[in-house]
Amino acid sequence: MSAAEYVPPAGGIAELRAAAQDCHGCELWEPATQTVFGAGSPGAKILLVGEQPGDAEDQRGLPFVGPAGKVLQKGLDEAGADRSMLYVTNAVKHFRFTWQGKRRLHQTPDAGNVNACRPWLEAEIARVDPELVVVLGATAGKSLLGSGFRVTKERGVVQERDTPAGRRRVLATIHPSAILRMDADVRDQGYADFVADLRTAVAAVS
Ligand code: URA
Ligand code: SF4
Repeated sequence: MSAAEYVPPAGGIAELRAAAQDCHGCELWEPATQTVFGAGSPGAKILLVGEQPGDAEDQRGLPFVGPAGKVLQKGLDEAGADRSMLYVTNAVKHFRFTWQGKRRLHQTPDAGNVNACRPWLEAEIARVDPELVVVLGATAGKSLLGSGFRVTKERGVVQERDTPAGRRRVLATIHPSAILRMDADVRDQGYADFVADLRTAVAAVS
């Protein structure tokens, strides 16, 4: 299983996005509505990587437009990130879910899906060529930094890492969905820590 054969060897983000619509690199394309490719500024200084599209993203064809996206957008605004500096994408480009009655329940993509979809993520990073990559949560971290990645250990610190664009700065933080799942008594602190990490990211490219 791999997306590699679908990734065009040349062209920019628009060409990648168009080609990804026809990707059958793993089984997730079939039950999903559409490929949800990355979006934002093709010349972004900061490229953010989430896990996979959710229900809302699957229907609209854009990343981070559902509840987690609202948290992310609010955090980025508070951190002083300008839209023109951002490109947002996911480790996996199709929504993985199970049916529960009439509802589609999010299922974490497995290593096979993450590995199959990585060529798209690598191509995005190479072609956007950002100054800094922000890893949102464990799935993105494992895809880009290896299976030993632990968000609790590595969050909030700017690291130098090999990326598909070359040696670049990388900063990990928690996934905005994790904030939504926190108990009410710790959620405000969880969100504040998230915004502090995003501020570190913005400061690193300013
Ligand atoms: N969660 C993600 O990781 N990505 C999205 O695009 C939406 C929710
Ligand atoms: Fe292709 Fe990724 Fe979708 Fe799998 S999840 S079909 S590899 S775009």
